[in-house]
Amino acid sequence: MTRRPRASARDRHAALANSQRVTLAGQVDVKIRRAQPHDLDRLSATLDRDDHAYYLDCMAYQDTDSGEVVVAVVGDEPVGALFARWSDADEPEVIEHLPKVPMLYRVVVRADVRGRKVGTTMVLATMDRLRERGYDRVALGVDQSNAGARRLYERLGFVVSDAPGLRGLRTALRPHENGVRTAPYDILVARLDAPFVARPDGPGDAP
Ligand SMILES: CC(C)(COP(=O)(O)OP(=O)(O)OC[C@H]1O[C@@H](n2cnc3c(N)ncnc32)[C@H](O)[C@@H]1OP(=O)(O)O)[C@@H](O)C(=O)NCCC(=O)NCCS
Repeated sequence: MTRRPRASARDRHAALANSQRVTLAGQVDVKIRRAQPHDLDRLSATLDRDDHAYYLDCMAYQDTDSGEVVVAVVGDEPVGALFARWSDADEPEVIEHLPKVPMLYRVVVRADVRGRKVGTTMVLATMDRLRERGYDRVALGVDQSNAGARRLYERLGFVVSDAPGLRGLRTALRPHENGVRTAPYDILVARLDAPFVARPDGPGDAP
């Protein structure tokens, strides 16, 4: 008898996230979808003002189909968001070394539901959405000091890019973010077209 290979954690989460309404290990029933303006109004009550202004600004990319704000909704409440952008990245270094690679920005989950796989589900569902658009890689920036978020991304197949100039960035972002990010951050990249092998112990080779 031929035994089927066990699905990786990412495959299982992706299959669930694809169904758009999922219950994961933390028992949160979460729906992932493109944000509407009223989602951001409701999120702003629980996320800080900068995040609200940022996501509102990013929603303009939906009009030109060059990016989208994705929200995680539990019940009727948006509890998390991220911005996926498939036009040029904010960072000139990313445009140079990872041209045409979409970026994820500002992955945030409401503090009281963290640790229940909402962030994982939201990132995986977004990776699926980008794969469906034909992209084979996705990238994001993570502060060098943010070990928790880094661990989450590495579990999903993200690794530090080995392209020169993509570590220790301090790029100026949007004006309302007051110019330059003070904490250095690295660009991580994940493949969307290769079978995922769980790496619980840390990063593997750069894609
Ligand atoms: C990072 C973040 C989006 C993760 O969302 P989440 O729904 O809690 O994530 P999940 O439940 O899917 O995964 C849990 C993992 O997230 C990471 N994590 C980071 N901060 C966390 C927190 N405060 N609480 C719980 N998990 C956290 C850990 O790696 C954790 O895994 P662990 O159990 O091995 O420590 C969320 O913690 C958050 O909004 N943090 C503040 C903003 C931020 O740092 N964003 C990342 C920018 S690159």
